[in-house]
Amino acid sequence: MAWDSVIIFDTTLRDGEQAPGAAMTIPEKVEIAHQLSRLGVDVIEAGFPISSPAQFEAVRRIVKEVHGPTICALARAKNADIDAAGKALEGGANTRIHTFIATSDIHLNAKFADARYGVNLAGKRQTIKKMAVEAVERAKRFTTNIEFSAEDAGRTDTDYLCEVVQAVIDAGATTINLPDTTGYCISDEYADLIRRVMSGCTFGKNIIFSTHCHDDLGLAVANSLAGVQAGARQVECTINGIGERAGNAALEEVIMALVVRAPYFELKTNVNPALLTQSSKMVSTFSGFLVQHNKAIVGKNAFSHEAGIHQDGVLKARETYEIMRAEDVGQAVESIRLGRHSGRHGLFSRMEQLGIHSTDAEKDLIYDEFVRLADRKKEINDSDLFNLVHDYKNVKTEPHYQLESFQVSVGTDQEPEAKVTIRDLRRDETIEKVATGDGPIDALFRAIDHAVNEGHDLVNYSIRSVSEGADAFGEVTVLIGLNGPLFAGKASSTDVIHASAEAYMNALNSLASHRAEEESIQFVATGIMQAFGSGTPE
Ligand code: KIV
Ligand code: ZN
Repeated sequence: MAWDSVIIFDTTLRDGEQAPGAAMTIPEKVEIAHQLSRLGVDVIEAGFPISSPAQFEAVRRIVKEVHGPTICALARAKNADIDAAGKALEGGANTRIHTFIATSDIHLNAKFADARYGVNLAGKRQTIKKMAVEAVERAKRFTTNIEFSAEDAGRTDTDYLCEVVQAVIDAGATTINLPDTTGYCISDEYADLIRRVMSGCTFGKNIIFSTHCHDDLGLAVANSLAGVQAGARQVECTINGIGERAGNAALEEVIMALVVRAPYFELKTNVNPALLTQSSKMVSTFSGFLVQHNKAIVGKNAFSHEAGIHQDGVLKARETYEIMRAEDVGQAVESIRLGRHSGRHGLFSRMEQLGIHSTDAEKDLIYDEFVRLADRKKEINDSDLFNLVHDYKNVKTEPHYQLESFQVSVGTDQEPEAKVTIRDLRRDETIEKVATGDGPIDALFRAIDHAVNEGHDLVNYSIRSVSEGADAFGEVTVLIGLNGPLFAGKASSTDVIHASAEAYMNALNSLASHRAEEESIQFVATGIMQAFGSGTPE
């Protein structure tokens, strides 16, 4: 019998981006969406258009520029949300509106406490069901591909859940998602929930049930797989498992479980496992979220054998300690060694292998950067290439401030002092500032803050070594923000003070660019809201 297919619904750009500190710029999101398309995911959840003009714009650009997967936009069960999602998806060949509303008693009592939703729980449940149906009806104005999620399904009374699900199927929803929003369920329970809802409803062959599991108890992947065994045929997941709180089910882990244990699951997907590692690296670089070394599938150590007994076993027969090969998931692909003597051909063929595509004009600039880097570093690894392109693209797309020079002085009997020269490219002026601080980095950041007029807090600063040997690179990640999204900046150099300055400038440029985007497209969003006469979300 032919194996069933499982639809892979990637929500890295929506739920993944909701991870604290994971904010990405619009060009970064578009780049990731292209990578997801190459990877072979079936659906890309590109964003939550009503939530901000930048989200709206990201969805709009992905619909226009990324072809292959279905592009999905999230909307609460509200007219304004659904209209904004429909508008952002306009013109797309394959689009989906994903509307959701909470169904658990805990959520109903807390979020719908107002008596206009019902004076008691029974009344509120009826109102929520009606809102769910109306949302699906509204979404039909824009597309026939409609997903409905019963938020906190994992803690919802099953009989009521079946009632809501039946009502939205009857109204036209084609995918029914049962999220374990809080990561509360144990695998058997979650499988049971899927089974009970599927057997408690009447639906046609075109209706797909979906898993959406959070990792609060470290069970997101196990629960997703249990859901699939119970009959779900869509899995919602994110690259590297990034997402709200502890994150979502990690796409790479779900895929490799289905591949390595194929005879057990008897299910197939369209994902190409060989592109998992490059996708992971791209998301890690753009989101600023490092992948832990022991992370399954894509971690640096996922295929390293340290203990002598393991090394001996693997040398004798690989399968003694390995259930898959590094090359199956795109790790340790035989690579040309890149360094000072490498030419353009070597550089760009390695970049292509990593999924980094660039235009001819970009190639000249990237190659110049590469030559400069190769002068400072003997061997250039894949992370360096991702950082190089990331830094370049950030500078290219967010050219607000440019660090022209800096000096830092420290000593046993002197207060650390930094002097910076920064070019404000928008105002076309050069600013010089001096500051002292608790240490050289603090002094440097203070001097930059005096020169750059972008109010923010420094939320996090971290530094790690990303290569070995005397010319080891220090990779600096900084996180900044102010009452809103956080912005990450990353840079690496053999000089950690230089890397810190560049990382800080990258984060500031992302913040400045985000503020400019919000301003420049605010009128579009205002126009949309006025056109729909539906005001702003609560
Ligand atoms: O976790 C959740 O419930 C969600 C929904 C919006 C699907 O992310
Ligand atoms: Zn979620």
